[in-house]
Amino acid sequence: MQIAIIGAGVIGLALGWRLAQGGAAVTIFERDQPGQGASFAAAGMLAAACEAEPGEAALGTLSRASLALWPDFAAELEAASGQSVGLRREGTLLVALNRDDAEKLRHDMAFQQSQGITLEWLTPAETRLREPRLGPNLAGAISSPQDIQVDNRRLTQALVTAFTRAGGVLHSQTPITGIATAHGRATGVISAGNTHPADLVVLAAGAWSALLDLPIPRPPIRPVKGQMLAVQMDPADPLLRHVVWAPRAYLVPRADGRLIIGATVEERGFDDRITAGGLFSLLDGAWRALPGIEDLPILESWVGFRPGSRDDAPLLGPSELPGLSLATGHHRNGILLTPITAEAMATSILTDTPDPRIAPFHPARFTQAQPHPHLERKIA
Ligand code: FAD
Ligand code: GLY
Repeated sequence: MQIAIIGAGVIGLALGWRLAQGGAAVTIFERDQPGQGASFAAAGMLAAACEAEPGEAALGTLSRASLALWPDFAAELEAASGQSVGLRREGTLLVALNRDDAEKLRHDMAFQQSQGITLEWLTPAETRLREPRLGPNLAGAISSPQDIQVDNRRLTQALVTAFTRAGGVLHSQTPITGIATAHGRATGVISAGNTHPADLVVLAAGAWSALLDLPIPRPPIRPVKGQMLAVQMDPADPLLRHVVWAPRAYLVPRADGRLIIGATVEERGFDDRITAGGLFSLLDGAWRALPGIEDLPILESWVGFRPGSRDDAPLLGPSELPGLSLATGHHRNGILLTPITAEAMATSILTDTPDPRIAPFHPARFTQAQPHPHLERKIA
């Protein structure tokens, strides 16, 4: 089976890797270099517990299932690529800096625990034992040991290697402008006027998924802007070891001493400007939790675009056009959701049987169309 994937972010690359492992002939088309979109911008938190919200039960279930896959996925990817993906298992602390924060955290914790998530409330003294450099205003914290992190930039590099080693073909600097169709089904992708034939096309173009010339109504995907910055800690004596969520910023320490501080959430289309207000709010939020950052050199600042959908959940599965599937809309948790997206989508495609784990995320929920299989008939 010939499969064309549009977009070489974590989603397109991981799905391509799984499909190539399953024997498909996979080509990924990337308009830029691989892994330079949201997958580059992300913080790499695998925050199935921290980001669990009421009203998103199905997404919470998917997130926890994906988190459970992460250790084996990382080990397999590291073996296949020969590269580390920087998985760190110290866990996450959600810190309260005053009584209001503490009340809010305790309220959220009750919901998260009702979902079966293991969390522990820490007093200020207990919190400081785990992270002594946190500021003087601590009012307690939630410890979430299962919310771990991965280095998302290393992840995309490892996925490129694993994908190509599995026989996949990657065309960088090749923007896809449209989908070729014949007899009511997708038959390939179009780039610079040329058609590249495929039995199945998968749209994995992240925040840009609604910008192509598609023969179906545009998927309800919009860019949700996030500004971030990184400061350099002393790797031999880092200010933090856990991922820390403060009330107005999160802090993600990497093994090499980089401390990532994120992120704004802005509805500004594809405006890629880094603003004084954005950086100020991140630095202020981070400094209130970890005053020691004021002496650290700033390494980098950047902007990324989360692929947000109308219900904040991904679109996974066949579109209304036979031969065209979607794997997009992963919003704030695409790194976390990479293993399950790749595994469940690949299984559905290769066996022509929908994987029940992604059934709630069928794109038809936005169009009322009846689901149909990826391919109407199996193609040898
Ligand atoms: P992308 O990585 O954006 O990849 C899409 C690719 O498609 C791009 O390379 C793009 O160039 C390409 N493309 C677009 N149009 C075309 C075309 N016409 N032809 C060819 N190629 C095309 N998630 C987490 O799980 N944990 C986090 O801590 C986290 N933090 C985040 C922080 C920020 C600031 C942001 C912005 C996101 C964060 N996310 C996080 C979300 C996560 O980054 C995304 O959900 C995920 O990276 C989406 O992956 P993707 O492959 O769908 O999109
Ligand atoms: N998940 C973190 C972010 O989107 O900023």
